Amino acid sequence: MNKKRSYSAPGRVCLYGEHQDYLKLTVIPAAINLRTIIDVERSNTNEIKIKSHDLKKTDVIKVNDEITLAKNEFDYIRAIIMVLFNEGIIKEIPGFNLTISSLIPIGSGLSSSAAILVAWLTALNDLLKLKLNKTEIADLCFKAENNILGINCGIMDQYSSSLGGIFSLDCDGPPYKIHQFTTELDGLVIGDSCVRRSANEPLTLLKSQITTGFEKIQEQGDFNLKNLDSNSLTEFRDFITEDEFRRLFGVITIRNITERSSIELTKSENQDIECLGTLLTKQQTMLRDYLGVSIPELDNLVDVSLKSGALGAKLTGAGLGGCIIALAPGKEEEVAKAINNAGGKAAICKIDYDGARKEK
Ligand code: GLA
Repeated sequence: MNKKRSYSAPGRVCLYGEHQDYLKLTVIPAAINLRTIIDVERSNTNEIKIKSHDLKKTDVIKVNDEITLAKNEFDYIRAIIMVLFNEGIIKEIPGFNLTISSLIPIGSGLSSSAAILVAWLTALNDLLKLKLNKTEIADLCFKAENNILGINCGIMDQYSSSLGGIFSLDCDGPPYKIHQFTTELDGLVIGDSCVRRSANEPLTLLKSQITTGFEKIQEQGDFNLKNLDSNSLTEFRDFITEDEFRRLFGVITIRNITERSSIELTKSENQDIECLGTLLTKQQTMLRDYLGVSIPELDNLVDVSLKSGALGAKLTGAGLGGCIIALAPGKEEEVAKAINNAGGKAAICKIDYDGARKEK
């Protein structure tokens, strides 16, 4: 009998630095205690049989055929195998039976895609003795999502899911600079608007508006997104469209908010938690008014959270649907109740410090 083993990887919230990773700026995600679990069993057939508990769907990959995408929910499994072949890390793959189950709602801004990619590669890494470390796993999962599945994402989700914890990640690499924070940051409450969307839509639109606008500014002088300030941006307002101006203003303001929050999160004592809350809400204003990726359902969940005692709140992920994250130490229950009463679905959550792992 082939033994069944389980591997899992967490979802994440983006606390600071939304829409910064694909621009090579800094992000601060936190992995959360909602996981995707894959039960894996070697099989003596030439097939990888996949079953999803939550979707009630199945799929079969024939391992002797050239593996390509099937344009279905299980393309994450295929994309990882394809990337391992493309990179020359494997030359063949045996048969497996997989069962996937997840507590991370799909399309909700909590990184369900990265969790399944990371959990599956963590399984293959162990079972095929690939000797990849967690950073290499994150890099390969990014390649699978970006190059193979064609999602215009950055590297935040894969790093957060693989490494776990709360850290700042300077996305100007590779190699990427990572600084793990030791803070506990209690009082996180997730509010799901239950509006589902594909993350690729806001990502593609924003990326193109921001890069087109920024290229026009670079024609005027030696700027990069790390040093552009709002005065210079305003000086060049006539060279760019109004939408490009708004997007760029939003990006550099969120960059400054992220820098400020990083200072606060680094402190081992006298951390100004109220300031961290205010910075979350300031970011939400940028996401809503300048990047245009909030929707009334998310705005409403942010509002009710603040009214019921949260220190700050913002949408998490690409936007246009999905979840908010509120910081409400000591007021978790009140905020969760307010979110539920407003038609959302609340979950009090904790930071996950393990990242991807083999289950016992
Ligand atoms: C999605 C992407 C991330 C990041 C966020 C926006 O979640 O997968 O890489 O770009 O959107 O911050």
